[in-house]
Amino acid sequence: MHPSHNIRSMVGWPAVAVSLLALSGCAMLGGSSGPKAVADIAPTSVAAAASMNPQGQLTFQQQADGVLVTGRISGLRPNREHGFHVHEGSDCSGDGMATKGHFNPDASPHGRHDGGNHHAGDLPALRADANGVAEVNVLVKKLTVSAGPMSVVGRGVIVHRDPDDYTTQPTGNAGPRPGCGVIRQS
Ligand code: CU
Ligand code: ZN
Repeated sequence: MHPSHNIRSMVGWPAVAVSLLALSGCAMLGGSSGPKAVADIAPTSVAAAASMNPQGQLTFQQQADGVLVTGRISGLRPNREHGFHVHEGSDCSGDGMATKGHFNPDASPHGRHDGGNHHAGDLPALRADANGVAEVNVLVKKLTVSAGPMSVVGRGVIVHRDPDDYTTQPTGNAGPRPGCGVIRQS
């Protein structure tokens, strides 16, 4: 084989490999490269009275068709459901009531996040396992992390003591607010 041909092959391969890596990197980022926000859930002043100690971190990842909310929350009531919502306000002090009502920028009734009319901030209830731990992994289509009227940034997340009945207006009748966190851009 001619020596110069060999050299050209050796030089050429790394360039091709780098190009392929760059392409696949972009393709992977396409699904999850949008803005991200996080919220650290902590107990409020009414947590002890509810026999709860909610703690954990939630991630809000902008995707093409909504916001993927993921995370893990401990300190819940074992084998119970807890109403779970994005609320309008960002003040988690005291009993969490300063976060006001469910985040509802388009004036909808309360309901299921995957049903018909519902608040933008309506999330599926947390389902605690026998150890009082709930995993969160849900795509919420009405919310954004990107700036705009539906953005979760600067809002509060509430973990309620009781289940959400998805019917009672405008709260879902989920009771006190033993867990709270503020959503911040990350
Ligand atoms: Cu709530
Ligand atoms: Zn609601």
